[in-house]
Amino acid sequence: MDNFNTIKKLKNGTVPEKQELALLLRTITSEQTEDLRHAAQEKAQSVFGNKVYIRGLIEISSYCKKDCLYCGLRRSNKNAVRYRLDKAQILSCCETGYRLGFRTFVLQGGEDPYYTDDIMCGIVSEIRRHYPDCAITLSLGERGYESFKRLYEAGADRYLLRHETANAEHYSRLHPKSMTLRTRIESLYTLKEIGFQTGAGFMVGSPWQTYENLAEDLLFISELKPQMCGIGPFIPHKDTPFGNKPAGTLETTLVLLSVIRLLHPPVLLPSTTALGTIHPKGRELGILHGANVVMPNLSPAEHRKDYSLYDNKICTGEEAAECIRCLSLRMKNIGYEIVTDRGDFKQT
Ligand code: 5AD
Ligand code: SF4
Ligand code: FES
Repeated sequence: MDNFNTIKKLKNGTVPEKQELALLLRTITSEQTEDLRHAAQEKAQSVFGNKVYIRGLIEISSYCKKDCLYCGLRRSNKNAVRYRLDKAQILSCCETGYRLGFRTFVLQGGEDPYYTDDIMCGIVSEIRRHYPDCAITLSLGERGYESFKRLYEAGADRYLLRHETANAEHYSRLHPKSMTLRTRIESLYTLKEIGFQTGAGFMVGSPWQTYENLAEDLLFISELKPQMCGIGPFIPHKDTPFGNKPAGTLETTLVLLSVIRLLHPPVLLPSTTALGTIHPKGRELGILHGANVVMPNLSPAEHRKDYSLYDNKICTGEEAAECIRCLSLRMKNIGYEIVTDRGDFKQT
């Protein structure tokens, strides 16, 4: 078993063994990274050409009832500034976004009990009515079958719920006792079954993560085959128990993006804000390593800095129009083009 063979398997669509993936991640050389990058970029281009999809991210609430140890919005963080957007404010973000060319709106927030099913379905159906040509993505945490179902029927198309880590023991070290990997994974299968284009994903370099854990994440992705997969480096937030832990690395995140592209070619794979936060060219590098989505922020400028999952998050001082201009230019500079399209998942 060596990396050459593991990379060969990835290139011809064979799923490597867990130990092969772990070894690859632990010992990959820069030449092998480039080899993998090239294959992943080629694979992404065979599915999407040089097009990059954009999603307008609307951070609707910084309240959260959960207490994930890594996250700045955790309920124990007394320093967090809390805000929530009402229906009118969310619709006004969509209006701005639509004018700027967005055809997917991602409503993301902490697990905020204010957004009951009635309120949330009211918001979703109103967006659906105003923007019949747009996709509505939700990212609101765990809600249970009935709730997911009602949101889907109200007009939501997609749901993002990262699994964070596919190893139960590791999961329990990142979350309070009340949260389990089992519930998370069941939620993901429920979302898929209801009909959502479903997004899983994980953090890279979170505390106590091993290369074996990352190999388990990759195998989980290749088994679940989610329509989307969000990955980004863990970045410490000063007001959390992990405030002094090191951040995940650019290099490992890029290798993982390439491996995910090869394991599951049609997946919608964002080059995340967290990647752009740990390196000035992080998002460009993500695209060059196989990602095909970027998610500029559409949240009202006055609340941007308060949606603080981790320290030093980029784009907190910019308006939506500035970010989209900035990202279009960044993509153009690496030979890619941002497109105005719902950008639905298509099985290849
Ligand atoms: N660093 C990186 N990503 C984080 N998230 C939450 N906290 C952090 C952090 N400190 C990610 C989680 C969550 C998503 C919304 O943000 O993966 O699912
Ligand atoms: Fe809440 Fe999500 Fe942060 Fe966990 S990761 S504390 S659920 S906002
Ligand atoms: Fe927000 Fe560049 S994308 S400032």
